[in-house]
Amino acid sequence: MILSGKSRLAGVMGWPVAHSLSPRLHGFWLEHHGVDGTYLPLAVQPARFAAALQSLSEMGFRGVNLTLPHKEAGLAACDRIDSFARRVGAVNTIVFEAGRLIGSNTDGFGFLESLRQEAPDWDPRAAPALVLGAGGAARAVVGALRDAGAPEIRLSNRTPARAGKLASDLDAPVVLVPWAERAAALDGIGLLINTTSLGMVGKEPLDLDLAAFPTRALVTDIVYNPLETPLLAAARERGNPVVDGLGMLLHQARPGFESWFGVAPKVTAELRAFVLAA
Ligand code: ATR
Repeated sequence: MILSGKSRLAGVMGWPVAHSLSPRLHGFWLEHHGVDGTYLPLAVQPARFAAALQSLSEMGFRGVNLTLPHKEAGLAACDRIDSFARRVGAVNTIVFEAGRLIGSNTDGFGFLESLRQEAPDWDPRAAPALVLGAGGAARAVVGALRDAGAPEIRLSNRTPARAGKLASDLDAPVVLVPWAERAAALDGIGLLINTTSLGMVGKEPLDLDLAAFPTRALVTDIVYNPLETPLLAAARERGNPVVDGLGMLLHQARPGFESWFGVAPKVTAELRAFVLAA
């Protein structure tokens, strides 16, 4: 890779950051589009976060992505925040504009765009959705479903207080479902989303009886390691349409790349294969 003096710079700030797939993903697009630019992994300790962000801006970076544990701190560090990031309570994309830090959250966009690309017949307004989990990913998913016009969002989490807090923060049409009653809440839904870490490599699978899950309803998982979680495998087996969790990761990166590097990138089969080969 040969950079010029005009090279555009961006990166991802995390602690740790070594596991991040973002450098590989942005690197693919940079090469594909022949952009004079680079996207770096930036290991930044939480205590140094605000100072590091300011330095990058002063050094002429175009912006950064934020990953764990910086997404919440990003809210306070930016000069301007989009309304979605404010409601969700986390920033994952920052654009530096003439010394000002403009923060947004593209996780909800990534979630919806992944479903739109891979399940074009799914209509968020047609039927209720069931969201399992109430962490950061669930907040973005519920916010996106609300904005897309979901008539009802059933929300179930092991720790009910966390689901209650999410519902009041997001002003969405949420119906809280006790964790023990999650299987019954599958009845009549059009979309099931697992945002818990259950089903991830090294974790136990999500325990969910799918008997009440309508066969035409879509299911997706935030977990992408493995790509086909036990939940997705069981749903596919009984004939449900299935979208894996990698698409959300890839699509959430699009707005940042376009802002920093000036090209609107696409999520393609080649990109998926390249990222998966990591
Ligand atoms: P993220 O911000 O990435 O969504 P998180 O905040 O750690 O991650 O949230 C993980 C989610 O998985 C939470 O909803 C968590 O439930 P709690 O709020 O009760 O902790 C859920 N989760 C993790 N392990 C679980 C388990 N063994 N059973 C049920 N839910 C679990």
